[in-house]
Amino acid sequence: MAKRTIISMPGDGIGKTVLDETIRVLGAAGFEADYVEGDIGWKFWCKEGNPLPQRTIDLLEKHKIGLFGAITSKPKDEAFDELLPELKEKGLVYSSPIVGLRQHFNLDICLRPCKTYTGNPLNFIRRGQGETIEEPKVDVAIFRQNTEGLYGGVEWSNPSPQVHAAFMTHPKFVSNFGETPVDELSISTRIFTKKATERILRAAFEYADKYGYKSVTVCEKPNVIRETSGMMYKMAQQMQKADFPHIELWNTNIDAQMMWLTKNPENYGVIVAGNMFGDIVSDGFAGLIGGLGFACSAQYNPESGVAVFEPTHGSAPKYADYPVSIVNPIAMVESACMMLDFIDESTIAKKIRKAVAEVVAEGNVKTYDMAKMAGRADVVEKGAASTKEMADAIIKKL
Ligand code: NAI
Ligand code: MG
Repeated sequence: MAKRTIISMPGDGIGKTVLDETIRVLGAAGFEADYVEGDIGWKFWCKEGNPLPQRTIDLLEKHKIGLFGAITSKPKDEAFDELLPELKEKGLVYSSPIVGLRQHFNLDICLRPCKTYTGNPLNFIRRGQGETIEEPKVDVAIFRQNTEGLYGGVEWSNPSPQVHAAFMTHPKFVSNFGETPVDELSISTRIFTKKATERILRAAFEYADKYGYKSVTVCEKPNVIRETSGMMYKMAQQMQKADFPHIELWNTNIDAQMMWLTKNPENYGVIVAGNMFGDIVSDGFAGLIGGLGFACSAQYNPESGVAVFEPTHGSAPKYADYPVSIVNPIAMVESACMMLDFIDESTIAKKIRKAVAEVVAEGNVKTYDMAKMAGRADVVEKGAASTKEMADAIIKKL
């Protein structure tokens, strides 16, 4: 079979380290691919005025599958200061290349699974009856709509007369904000389309169906945000009735869900939400299974097949220049396993997940986060595994 081409996008900071180690793990597990590096991130902003050069978009357009480390984003003023002097006159404005990728390829489905590893010292525990301690097994897959909603970017401060006039046609706007001077208004919209809502719901139900989850929970706030959340829940009810009657449909409010997170996380299966609530609830569940060192994700477009797999964490700049990298590569390795599932290489994905599970369960090799140390350059001297040692341990199990 012809070798796959994978666009590897290390990005900034620890992105490169965790990606390099992950590619080593993939190779050791028998996955053969040509990796073509895609430029993305802060240094391309500084040098070229564009953190997502067109050549990277072209590569993804052609080869479809991207493995992404992490990027650094900085506030507007700092971004401007760090531009090469000759670029400063060009009126360039920094925007996140990862958001750029999502928008360009309409990567509207974001999947963030959160699954407990037995023996992970970071697992959530709670008090049971009497003096007992319980360690519930979390196995949740969160589907987050990735392109619309509150992160859709349709917002204004001091809106134009036209925009203001449009808002003034809404009685609630008139009664609540009608008296507010226009230059004191900041407005961010929350737009849901039927098409994208249908796609994220279907992806969630199909996943539940394929992997045997008994429930899909819509985690929104339809009792208050009646139009957008309300539409999503109603469409979920129709879809469940028509196509997935064997899967239970649950409905939780995002605020209550965050409270229940530590009460009964083992009860949930697939969760589906809009952009912001999906972001929140997925971080919440990730916290129960070990946090950023374990949180993986996929973002994809079911029609074009373009997909980018990445850990949820960022570039952790404070650790980037340590002579020996200390960060946990498991989130990136897990993201690569999601890639393998996506391209029908699940046998290799299973092998890698088993190896990771064994390393975690044995508990002999622990990165600083698993060893519950504060992240400092000397953690390896004090017994924590380095990024490379963790990857070596996984490879040994393979
Ligand atoms: P971060 O995720 O980079 O780091 C936060 C903290 O989490 C770190 O200091 C570290 O204690 C821990 N951590 C992160 N990854 C870890 C790993 N693999 N193993 C162990 N511990 C880990 O978030 P932060 O510090 O808020 O942002 C740093 C930069 O990353 C910023 O420029 C931010 O804009 C960017 N960022 C990029 C993301 C992306 O590329 N998708 C996502 C989040 C932040
Ligand atoms: Mg987040």
